[in-house]
Amino acid sequence: MIETRLADGTLVMARPLGLADRSQLAEGYRRLSPESRYQRFWVRTGGVIGDKMLDRMLAGSVEEHGLWAVLDPARDFQGLGAASFWRSNEDGEDAEFSCTVLDEDQRRGVGTLLLAVLWLVAYRQGIRRFTGYTMPENSSAIRWMRDTGAEAEWDGYKVIFRWDLANLDKLPASNAGIALAERLAELAEELLDGDSAS
Ligand SMILES: CC(C)(COP(=O)(O)OP(=O)(O)OC[C@H]1O[C@@H](n2cnc3c(N)ncnc32)[C@H](O)[C@@H]1OP(=O)(O)O)[C@@H](O)C(=O)NCCC(=O)NCCS
Repeated sequence: MIETRLADGTLVMARPLGLADRSQLAEGYRRLSPESRYQRFWVRTGGVIGDKMLDRMLAGSVEEHGLWAVLDPARDFQGLGAASFWRSNEDGEDAEFSCTVLDEDQRRGVGTLLLAVLWLVAYRQGIRRFTGYTMPENSSAIRWMRDTGAEAEWDGYKVIFRWDLANLDKLPASNAGIALAERLAELAEELLDGDSAS
């Protein structure tokens, strides 16, 4: 578990989610706006997450899959956002990355904190690239992914982003890029060498 502060001073925790977090994860999904839910999960099925989706998100070994949340312990419902990676079956150095922050907590640095945590957790497992997908109309996610150093490609249907996890020198001098570099420096020792990554 990681303890840190957001830029506004709020004390937050980041930790991996497990089977005991099933109802919290379902509640976080319910609290997302329909637009954010659609942007992350690509479905317009209302606020109830399916059992199969929950099973899939909460399963998987540490080597293949990471699912972390950022929590505010001072709140009734503590979840602010969650992100995951899945190692590719075809290329063991590549993993699919996705991230969701509750609407009222977006633009507070939570997404960038989650990206930094998963970046280091995945790197420790030998993953060297993250691939993320967005819809072309999701301009805030597109901007955030570019600003955190991902290269964009358009396949005629969705925008594909790739972060090179090995090359920290390529991070842009945007607000989010600088925040990411600071988070990676802050968390590297604990997540690359310590026990917090599992
Ligand atoms: C895309 C998404 C994950 C980004 O998460 P986020 O927590 O809003 O991102 P951050 O706050 O870390 O960074 C976003 C921006 O806020 C800025 N920011 C961060 N902390 C800030 C603060 N304290 N004050 C003002 N701005 C801040 C960042 O610098 C960045 O600025 P930019 O506008 O210059 O790019 C989030 O918007 C989201 O969940 N969207 C819906 C789901 C989705 O589209 N997911 C992506 C597909 S997987």
